[in-house]
Amino acid sequence: MASPWIAGLRSVALNVPNLAQAEDFYTRVWHLDVVARTDDALYLRGTGADHHLLALHRGGDRPQIRHVTLRARSAQALQDIAAATDRAGGRVYSPVGPIAESGGGMGLTIRDPDGRLLQIVHGDERHADAREVKDRPYRLAHAVLNSHDVESTRRFFEQALGFSLSDRTRIMAFMNCDRDHHSIALGDADNDALNHIAFVMPDLDSVMRGGGRMRDAGHGIEWGPGRHGPGDNAFNYFIDPFGVVIEYTAEVEQIDDSYRVGGPDDWKWPTGRVDQWGISQPPSARLKEAQRAVFFVPTSA
Ligand SMILES: [Fe+2]
Repeated sequence: MASPWIAGLRSVALNVPNLAQAEDFYTRVWHLDVVARTDDALYLRGTGADHHLLALHRGGDRPQIRHVTLRARSAQALQDIAAATDRAGGRVYSPVGPIAESGGGMGLTIRDPDGRLLQIVHGDERHADAREVKDRPYRLAHAVLNSHDVESTRRFFEQALGFSLSDRTRIMAFMNCDRDHHSIALGDADNDALNHIAFVMPDLDSVMRGGGRMRDAGHGIEWGPGRHGPGDNAFNYFIDPFGVVIEYTAEVEQIDDSYRVGGPDDWKWPTGRVDQWGISQPPSARLKEAQRAVFFVPTSA
């Protein structure tokens, strides 16, 4: 069921150790474009309407996640989310007001009980030249966040942001806010790290070409190619130069209120299989390690 407040995932903000290296990698290899920059930050867009998909800030020697940015359906939704956040046991970290950063709009940042920072924006800049271009990311598909208590994090996303569960597997809760099967997923884990960020490619061919381009650049496919169960999307997973897990994906299932929410028993693979096609190797040990190593910037509760 669509969220009354959240229209979708817009962007993710990260701290990275080296902005020049990040610019080279995310433009030349990952195929985003620079849309804005300051002395300390770089904003990268896809070919879709979203102002930027990644905000990269100059940070320390390890990557960190600053926040995940969601787009609200209305200005009123920002107020509704602020009130709901308090009721859900979170905290308004910065109140509703103009966003000073590139992309602008009005927004607020909320903090969930475990310290995840979620920025919600409305009226941010959109690009008029949105178009799908082969072999270039169009928008974000989803962000996956680890949780040491998925059911409690899930309740927060439901109560504070109006998300609803689209599927629950043994290892993940898929959270829906609009037509995409999931825009956020919560991974069962022993920590609250960023698991990965997925970028929508215009088609399957682009997911595969991206795999070759990444391999040529020294970033081999760590999981894939394959097709997921929940969400039905095709995937290739990689690790960026700093250790952040990134995914090219395509053909994400579009759902509506008639979607039947599945549980762990609906999503069991035959032995040895890790994707629908049955061609993918399991995720690499390196990937599994990277999927638990990038943490939110610490904030006080
Ligand atoms: Fe994914």
